[in-house]
Amino acid sequence: MVAHTLVVGGTGMLSGLCEALAGDGGRLSLLSRQASGPDGFGCDYYDPDSFSAALDAAVARSGPISLAVAWFHTLKIEAPRLLAQRVEGRLFQVLGSAAADPSHPWRLETARKVVDGLSRCALRQVILGFEVEPAGSRWLTNAEISNGVLEAVRTDAPLTIIGQTKPWSARP
Ligand SMILES: NC(=O)c1ccc[n+]([C@@H]2O[C@H](COP(=O)([O-])OP(=O)(O)OC[C@H]3O[C@@H](n4cnc5c(N)ncnc54)[C@H](OP(=O)(O)O)[C@@H]3O)[C@@H](O)[C@H]2O)c1
Repeated sequence: MVAHTLVVGGTGMLSGLCEALAGDGGRLSLLSRQASGPDGFGCDYYDPDSFSAALDAAVARSGPISLAVAWFHTLKIEAPRLLAQRVEGRLFQVLGSAAADPSHPWRLETARKVVDGLSRCALRQVILGFEVEPAGSRWLTNAEISNGVLEAVRTDAPLTIIGQTKPWSARP
């Protein structure tokens, strides 16, 4: 069966990742509000019905999801679980730097609950950190984020930090 990669939020900071994954030869599905074209499935992840319909349409077109990469503004919505329930392979959860905030040490573990009880979905986590340079610290560029997530997919590490999250006091 041809691999089916699905990316949630692939038109923003993950667009470079999608371009790289498109060269892998499998089927690619992109879910976002403005997604268009044969690979695009327009939906709003704050609306569970809209998001489920897009997932169903993507699976109907390209088969079971063997690799998913997802960025959600919040995990406190139904969409992350709806996605995890449909993944039959690896799910890369892209998380903001707040997942590494030492004053909230349980956040990473809480984020993992999205796959509780789902034996077919293997979770990987990617934290977007920051860069510290002589002139000061800064957030990651879109290219750094896409390249970092691609590296995480290729190496298949359980947890990847792009840039750094320590010392926490050095964040921009
Ligand atoms: N740590 C760092 O260095 C760093 C750097 C950059 C960004 N970030 C974090 O990443 C976040 C995302 O950045 P971004 O610039 O890519 O902007 P974004 O506006 O959050 O868009 C990200 C992607 O998600 C999609 N999307 C957004 N809302 C959606 C919704 N309700 N339903 C479905 N798809 C949705 C967008 O496409 P559509 O518009 O087509 O829906 C786009 O593909 C930032 O808010 C920031 O917290 C962190």
